[in-house]
Amino acid sequence: MTECFGSGRPRWLNPRVITLDRLTKVFPAPGGGDPVVALDGIDLHLDPGRIHGIVGRSGAGKSTLIRCLTGLEKPSSGRVEVDGTDVAALDGAALRAARRHIGMVFQHANLLDSRTAAQNIAHPLEIAGVPRAERERRVAELVELVGLTGREHNHPAQLSGGQIQRVGIARGLAAEPKVLLCDEPTSALDGGTTRQILGLLRDLRARLGITVVIITHEMAVVREVCDTVTLLQDGRITQTGDLLDVAADPHGPLSAELIPLPPAPTGIDALVVNCDYGDSERFRTSEDLIRLAEEYQAEATLVAGTIETIGGRQVGRVQLALRNRSGAAISREGLTAFLAELDAAGVVAREVTA
Ligand SMILES: Nc1ncnc2c1ncn2[C@@H]1O[C@H](COP(=O)(O)OP(=O)(O)O)[C@@H](O)[C@H]1O
Ligand SMILES: [Mg+2]
Repeated sequence: MTECFGSGRPRWLNPRVITLDRLTKVFPAPGGGDPVVALDGIDLHLDPGRIHGIVGRSGAGKSTLIRCLTGLEKPSSGRVEVDGTDVAALDGAALRAARRHIGMVFQHANLLDSRTAAQNIAHPLEIAGVPRAERERRVAELVELVGLTGREHNHPAQLSGGQIQRVGIARGLAAEPKVLLCDEPTSALDGGTTRQILGLLRDLRARLGITVVIITHEMAVVREVCDTVTLLQDGRITQTGDLLDVAADPHGPLSAELIPLPPAPTGIDALVVNCDYGDSERFRTSEDLIRLAEEYQAEATLVAGTIETIGGRQVGRVQLALRNRSGAAISREGLTAFLAELDAAGVVAREVTA
């Protein structure tokens, strides 16, 4: 029982499948200058059975983070725990054994050209010494699971980009891992194929209860499939949380990327107000904003905006053009009171100068 309480919280209450404590990775500078701090004290705790996105610009530390999770890279300090295993503490054969239970999917599946889809999926099982009969049973299961039935005897040259990535995912799942780590899994795919592969990851999570970590630079991937998202900047976490909370927080760094600001209006003969909503209990749609404007004797029209539905809830950045009923501009007093009421209800609203 003592072990259960070792991390300060009972494991059975809410076990975390991935725990990073003060993870730091420093690389010596290639030319002998200042060392590069790729990860700088990362604390991250991920719940099982969810799809987690990790985003950030090039050089932010995303690949280093995933390499630490798979044990390919030793942390300079800190703790890396994946599915109950202290990955950073292992070496040699113990590390290789642990790594087999962490599924990996890469941007390019790098399949063996001389082998069929099924033989590529079987490859990690062969290396792990799984007996032939069991291997064949498992491969048949995986082919069905990733939607490759009928294509299992094709060679990579006879498969589409999406099918090749399905083989890559099946291979990552071969050892029945509880965690699937995906580094830019859709970056080489077109939009339609990306959606299919994201649909597959969602489906796998539902069927297997697997935890998925997706590293990506594509905000569309995060919007489409992630439950939670973490932003890395210069080796540090600058924002993390449930996708809806992060997207709906107009002050946070990620909301503008997840829900881009509309362009500044031009040539509109009216007063234009920018409204960011999503965090508000009272204003849940742009229609709610328009109805309030009417209480202030204004005609409001939606002139631009980005509206997304995330987790069944509308999150938007919209621009409203406000006019008086007679077509003249809305009064200053009316505008001030309107903005104050929005502000009190959690909508970030401000006048835009055209
Ligand atoms: N093996 C290495 N040796 C030295 N510096 C490295 C090494 N790997 C990564 N870095 C540096 O660490 C930082 C983070 O890199 P990386 O994790 O690849 O970022 P990302 O995947 O977000 O683009 C960068 O400044 C990169 O140059
Ligand atoms: Mg990278």
